[in-house]
Amino acid sequence: MDSVAFDALEEEAQSRVSPGAFAFCACGADDEISVAENVAAWRGLRLRPRVLRDVRAIDTALTLLGAPARMPIMLAPTGRHRLYHAEGERATARAAARAGATYVLSTNSTVSIEEVAAERREAPQWFQLYMTPERDVTEALIDRLAAAGFTGVALTVDTPVPGYSPRAARMPVEADPAIRHVNLPGAPIARTAYDPAFSGVVAYPTTFRDLEWLARRSPMDVLVKGVLRGDDAARCVEAGAKAVIVSNHGGRHLDTTVTTADALPEVVGAVGGHAEVYVDGGIRRGTDILKALALGARAVLIGRPMLWGLSVNGADGVHDVLAHLQAELVRAMTLSGGASLAEIGADLIAPARIPLPLAGRG
Ligand code: FNR
Repeated sequence: MDSVAFDALEEEAQSRVSPGAFAFCACGADDEISVAENVAAWRGLRLRPRVLRDVRAIDTALTLLGAPARMPIMLAPTGRHRLYHAEGERATARAAARAGATYVLSTNSTVSIEEVAAERREAPQWFQLYMTPERDVTEALIDRLAAAGFTGVALTVDTPVPGYSPRAARMPVEADPAIRHVNLPGAPIARTAYDPAFSGVVAYPTTFRDLEWLARRSPMDVLVKGVLRGDDAARCVEAGAKAVIVSNHGGRHLDTTVTTADALPEVVGAVGGHAEVYVDGGIRRGTDILKALALGARAVLIGRPMLWGLSVNGADGVHDVLAHLQAELVRAMTLSGGASLAEIGADLIAPARIPLPLAGRG
């Protein structure tokens, strides 16, 4: 896939899925300011390329929590993949495995944990957890995941209540009894999360105490997803997190947060090498990935582009998206003089531009 095709992918996805499913993917909270700003923030950073380096062989291999991966690009947890393709999360997992990319399966998966595990090859699979008040439900889930070979569990912490999306509320996902959150007790039907009936109801107020419990109880590494501040990130690491994902949930819950590009350096500084730091939100280009790595992220995650690929062509579509971003990253690394991920540092990013005086002033 080339860049023109990638830009057209979202439109093509829209033509393939129901209006409700498309709105669920595209939407953000309130005025969708954070959705747009996440993308704009990466684009607004300027690169300082290095020249005359030997860039004949570019290597993007790395380890993520000790496990090898071929690229610093992961698939973010997003729910309900069967809204986008009949094979659902199974197709997504197969694409990740083929690309050597880590897949983070959502609590709101519409395919079973074991079916997803069956698609795994070398790259690790992690699970994104929403905690519920019933500890035994969480315990059963994490034991089941560990038995299925998952090696990480990412606790999402930025959603004590669902945000409100006018777009999703206007265009709800049609409830289909065949599409369910199959890994949860009772396998509830997958509906839109933006039902006003749930608005303002705290499903379960997860706290640092729960994180400490999870880190002790989980046989898998624990990550925290949805951190935007250095002080919170440091507390997560103290509580036992092995990695922190800088994320504003793709702008889907609290609108007008700091962008993830702006939050990343503070979190990296506060964590100080004691945990891995990843970032998501608005990553759409190889240059975006390069900038995230330069600002200290070990890897990035992509959400909506993965769902566009899934909608258009199932596992092959997701694989195309990963291959395209990987090719762009390799090109960006080559053009900026870094042959390996270790050579990507903050020196690649220009300091914020000094605003030019407005013409004609005074
Ligand atoms: C999400 N996201 C998400 N996050 C999470 O922790 N658990 C989940 O179940 C979901 N579900 C979900 C559904 C859909 C349709 C989208 C688009 C996103 C957020 C996701 O993991 C990630 O943070 C963002 O999608 C990243 O931003 P981009 O790449 O979509 O801009």
